[in-house]
Amino acid sequence: MSDFSIIVALDEQKGIGKDGGLPWHLKADLQHFKTITTKTADPQQRNVVIMGRKTWESLPERFRPLPDRVNVVLTRDSNYPLPEGVFRAGSLDQAFSSLKGDTRLFGDIDSFFVIGGQQIFEEAMKRPQCQHLYCTHIEGDFQCDTFFPDFQQEFQLIETSSKLQEGALSYQFSQYKRTT
Ligand SMILES: NC(=O)c1ccc[n+]([C@@H]2O[C@H](COP(=O)([O-])OP(=O)(O)OC[C@H]3O[C@@H](n4cnc5c(N)ncnc54)[C@H](OP(=O)(O)O)[C@@H]3O)[C@@H](O)[C@H]2O)c1
Repeated sequence: MSDFSIIVALDEQKGIGKDGGLPWHLKADLQHFKTITTKTADPQQRNVVIMGRKTWESLPERFRPLPDRVNVVLTRDSNYPLPEGVFRAGSLDQAFSSLKGDTRLFGDIDSFFVIGGQQIFEEAMKRPQCQHLYCTHIEGDFQCDTFFPDFQQEFQLIETSSKLQEGALSYQFSQYKRTT
């Protein structure tokens, strides 16, 4: 398995989702997500975004697959229908190994991002290959029903923005690196 990053937006209770979707609408964070997950050092290469089946279903149809990125959906249902060009994987390990072996992508991949939701974050955070976290910290408690695991023990803050504001939402972009 290659090293990978996680990108997540979370509230003060580490809440990430509610009723199958995002509990906030933060345009600046959607743009941040797009920039971080799309940019590559070599313009010929693409990044991979790995997500759970429920997160895939939470994306409005017109926005999926996420453009200019290799989309991988984790599901244990081998018959789960996905559009052409979107990869299905039955496990996190398979998500990495099957892409490596795919000659269409050979040499074309830059970075891997795990993009949620709760189930996938929980599994991914246990892996030592999870080296980097991009967190958008949103002030408040949004009464979420899905959460991000505790991470402060194994990760240290390496960069943070000033406090930013969009409408009633206060937020901050932070980056963490694994220490253990
Ligand atoms: N704030 C954020 O940054 C952020 C990011 C992403 C998502 N979210 C939110 O998170 C919520 C969804 O999270 P969730 O935990 O309910 O769902 P999820 O993690 O997106 O998807 C869960 C599904 O993934 C599949 N799965 C899980 N572990 C697997 C494994 N080891 N191997 C293969 N497949 C596996 C299963 O699909 P099958 O049942 O098909 O087998 C499972 O039902 C939504 O509210 C979404 O909006 C928030």
